[in-house]
Amino acid sequence: MNITIIGSGYVGLVTGTCFAELGNKVICVDNDAQKIRHLKTGHVPIYEPGLEDLIKKNVRKKRLFFNSDLKSAVKKAEVIFITVGTPAKGNGEADLTGIENVARNIAHCMTGYKLIVEKSTVPVETGEWVKRTIEIHNHKKHKFDVASNPEFLREGQAINDFMHPDRIVLGVESNKAKNILTSLYRPLKAPILITDIKSAELIKHASNSFLAAKISFINAVSEVCERVGADVTRVAQGMGMDKRINELFLDAGVGYGGSCFPKDIDAFVTISEKLGYDFGLLKEVREINLAQKHNFIKKIEDNLWIIKNKTIAVLGLAFKPNTDDIRSAPAIDIIKRLEAEGAKIKVYDPCAMPKAREVLKGIKFCKDPYDAARESDCLIIVTEWNEFKELDLVRMKKCLKRPLIIDGRNIYEPQQMKKLGYKYISMGRPKVL
Ligand SMILES: NC(=O)c1ccc[n+]([C@@H]2O[C@H](COP(=O)([O-])OP(=O)(O)OC[C@H]3O[C@@H](n4cnc5c(N)ncnc54)[C@H](O)[C@@H]3O)[C@@H](O)[C@H]2O)c1
Repeated sequence: MNITIIGSGYVGLVTGTCFAELGNKVICVDNDAQKIRHLKTGHVPIYEPGLEDLIKKNVRKKRLFFNSDLKSAVKKAEVIFITVGTPAKGNGEADLTGIENVARNIAHCMTGYKLIVEKSTVPVETGEWVKRTIEIHNHKKHKFDVASNPEFLREGQAINDFMHPDRIVLGVESNKAKNILTSLYRPLKAPILITDIKSAELIKHASNSFLAAKISFINAVSEVCERVGADVTRVAQGMGMDKRINELFLDAGVGYGGSCFPKDIDAFVTISEKLGYDFGLLKEVREINLAQKHNFIKKIEDNLWIIKNKTIAVLGLAFKPNTDDIRSAPAIDIIKRLEAEGAKIKVYDPCAMPKAREVLKGIKFCKDPYDAARESDCLIIVTEWNEFKELDLVRMKKCLKRPLIIDGRNIYEPQQMKKLGYKYISMGRPKVL
């Protein structure tokens, strides 16, 4: 099929490249001309394992193209995916300016039937607005369908998630749209759920909110664990062995972040409010998540007493491992808060430092974890990269001014750390003194 993807970010690039890999002819469009220039010269602006090679392969096979000219891209495609960003506005609502712009521009450029698919995460009823917008601007009255196909990929394993999804959700209003999308996705051999558009939109918001709720739930449990000297990792293990619960998203820590959960939960709370429902449960999920960062900082204060002029080594900037994405990453908030208290910060992250340099000024970016630890008063762990799980902790101890590690991701065994001579503080686990 001829496919156009509008918005060449994490989701757009992965989606476009994978559709090309499945044998389709794909044009990825973006209104950031520099991004398109980079992509045309083989430079991939994001870090996503395996993506660069797959892009190169499909460009070589002439199945994947990059373009900033929306008009020609719309003309050539039968199916158009909208994958632009839907960031949070100050009031918690999703900012749908990009979606509206794209819908209007598609309408102006239509030359025949088009299936317009919203893949960006959007509040329920956005599909109706997209349809209305296209109707208004589609002066030549070309036929079109709108569909919703929310994306569930996870950064860091996005290609695998796209190619082997648990399910594909298709919100459609016509048989034609249903047939086009089911045949497009057929090669993946994944379960396909066909719904109406509003239900599809809600599946995405409800899924992300549910996963965030799981994280906040275990973080709340970890608070109780700390108060009684129980171990939240054992509690989570015991809960997770129940198939109805499962062990995923049950890791206590500094809380969730990233470009999706925080904004999607805000948007879900806000759209629910607009529709007359007070989603108090999700408001609490948000509060617990915020509290985790405060709890973590309090652990640092409890152990360093005065933060001012102390040097703190931070391992991890990305909101999770295997990505360079620092959008709403807990590390950024934590660093800014410690800096505000007068700490000197040294950081290391395997991938996210180039992006972090743009938002964090006046801190020292280090060449490796040991470099960060050298002459620091304590080491804090904020992202659970595998690299950090495999550190030479004997060497690390020699680098630090004092052997103090405050671990926001529970990556080490407390007993082992005690044996190594560390004062080791983690989340929701008994102190080993
Ligand atoms: N990142 C994820 O893990 C993930 C997973 C599932 C769903 N989503 C959702 O997918 C959507 C995109 O997320 P992302 O992480 O890829 O965002 P992103 O910021 O990485 O990419 C969005 C791209 O759209 C481009 N863009 C914005 N307005 C445009 C316009 N008018 N015309 C053309 N291009 C435009 C931007 O320049 C950018 O390159 C969001 O709604 C997000 O919530 C993201």
